[in-house]
Amino acid sequence: MASLSAVGYATNYIPCSTSFFPKKPPQFNNRRRNPVVKFTCKAKNGETSPGKFDRRDVLLGLGGLYGTSLAANPMALANPVLPDYKNCIDATQPNETSINCCPPPVDPSRVKDFVPSATTVNTRKPAHSFEVGSDYYKKYTSAIIKMKNLSPSDPRNFRQQANVHCANCDGGYTQLGNPKLFSVHNSWLFFPWHRWYLYFFEKICQNLIDDDTFTLPFWNWDAPEGMQIPSIYNSELTSPLYDCFRNPDHLPPTVTNLDWSYGDKPVDPNIQIENNLSIMHTQMITQSKTPFDFFGKAYRAGDDTPTIGIAGQIEQTPHNHVHSWTGTISDQTNPIDLGALYSSARDPVFYAHHSNVDRMWTIWLNKLGGSNFTDRDWLFTNFIFYNEEAKPVRVSTKDCLDTTKLGYKYEDVPIPWLDVSAKPKPRAKAKTLPSAPGPAQVFPITLDKPINVIVKRPKKSGTGSSEEILVIEGIEYDERNYVKFNVYINEDDVNACRPNNTEFLGSFSNLPHGHQMIANTSKTFRISQVLEELGARDYDKVLVTLIPKSNPVKINGIKIEFENS
Ligand code: C2O
Repeated sequence: MASLSAVGYATNYIPCSTSFFPKKPPQFNNRRRNPVVKFTCKAKNGETSPGKFDRRDVLLGLGGLYGTSLAANPMALANPVLPDYKNCIDATQPNETSINCCPPPVDPSRVKDFVPSATTVNTRKPAHSFEVGSDYYKKYTSAIIKMKNLSPSDPRNFRQQANVHCANCDGGYTQLGNPKLFSVHNSWLFFPWHRWYLYFFEKICQNLIDDDTFTLPFWNWDAPEGMQIPSIYNSELTSPLYDCFRNPDHLPPTVTNLDWSYGDKPVDPNIQIENNLSIMHTQMITQSKTPFDFFGKAYRAGDDTPTIGIAGQIEQTPHNHVHSWTGTISDQTNPIDLGALYSSARDPVFYAHHSNVDRMWTIWLNKLGGSNFTDRDWLFTNFIFYNEEAKPVRVSTKDCLDTTKLGYKYEDVPIPWLDVSAKPKPRAKAKTLPSAPGPAQVFPITLDKPINVIVKRPKKSGTGSSEEILVIEGIEYDERNYVKFNVYINEDDVNACRPNNTEFLGSFSNLPHGHQMIANTSKTFRISQVLEELGARDYDKVLVTLIPKSNPVKINGIKIEFENS
């Protein structure tokens, strides 16, 4: 406690109830109370319908922001999805209790447009480089204590900041001009929205401790030294950086599992580190060739709430798994803090987790040859946040692309996964793939046990991309549930196959979030390079194995097609 009193530990702040710890390993919520219910927010005839709403509403909503800087009205053809911040509604927890996580209401006439133009650039550093009790720790804890002690109605209050995340991810807003829910997850909005969110959180910290050089740290889970909950977040129960809703089996020194499934037991730390490095390489390089791969697919005005099939590679893995690995399930149905979207920003480590997610964006652009979208519906999506003076400001994706203009960069630490790619599983003798039925015999199926399917490869004809894409289609699941399954290719013994084997393609996962909604989505993997590495270039068929790791999902088919076909 000594170090805490040194930074002015406030007595009216209670970190969280320390009496709670899950007693049993989490069970799956195998809830099928209701038959499949489609989420029906489609406009009926005669109602305002997506794509048809009056574009002038959007322009008014934007406050004339773009009138001057661009020759033509950029909105004329654009169709960005915009949240209706005027009408925040109750969000929904995965167990369907509604939760009011609306930040203080925004008065549109008070919203000012904000374009950052920082003159100094601070460096965000790895969280593991800081020690409990260090000057940095004192500053950081002091900022968070002050945030937690602000009036509950102050939008900069820590809980209100967590609410901002909850409202934007669990149905607190509809889209401007149509009744569909707005969401910042599972699409190309994921990276820009979270970048802005952290930007204002960091500004508020700077303001509260009157130090504009303060930066959030990043949880460097992609390097061995950073692959555990950083010690500054785990010092003692009364620390403002501590959160009690973390999985007690995953406290330091347990090595983070970047493709964790509920029920997985910790493995030898060195093996876990090797697995993690391969997973990073696969997600950042092998599977992230285009902006759609990396950021996620388009989400425009009038689109249904995006599902995980639309999400970018990094959002799916490792982002989702670091959430579920760190958080808990309070009972059989209710994941909390990092384990579910509505509650995750209540855990201070969330901001370090997302700082590293944000760092992946800079690495993809600067070291891996990636590029941002030029699509205006991405560039001109705008969001409202409360700034460090508790005033509402409107910001736009196009203005967050250069972090130095936002006043920060990331420390240039080693990136050990750059050249640690997955390798084919070593075998004593040539493998003989088991025979298995084709998709027509297997699907549709409820994935409640492992399945093997033999999938035909398409024949190349004409020009165009020859990159082959494995498509798992018609994946149906309840969005309130934790959902995961793993996917292998040409593997005869999945139990002996690790994530650093080429045969492990990756996983499909859903972080529980509100609203009973049956998602129907697909999951794709790039497989040309994989088949090449497995020496299977000339095979006309491949074996695909799906291993369920959660509540069963329904799957309607698997095929291989050429990219963009
Ligand atoms: Cu908005 Cu990691 O979630």
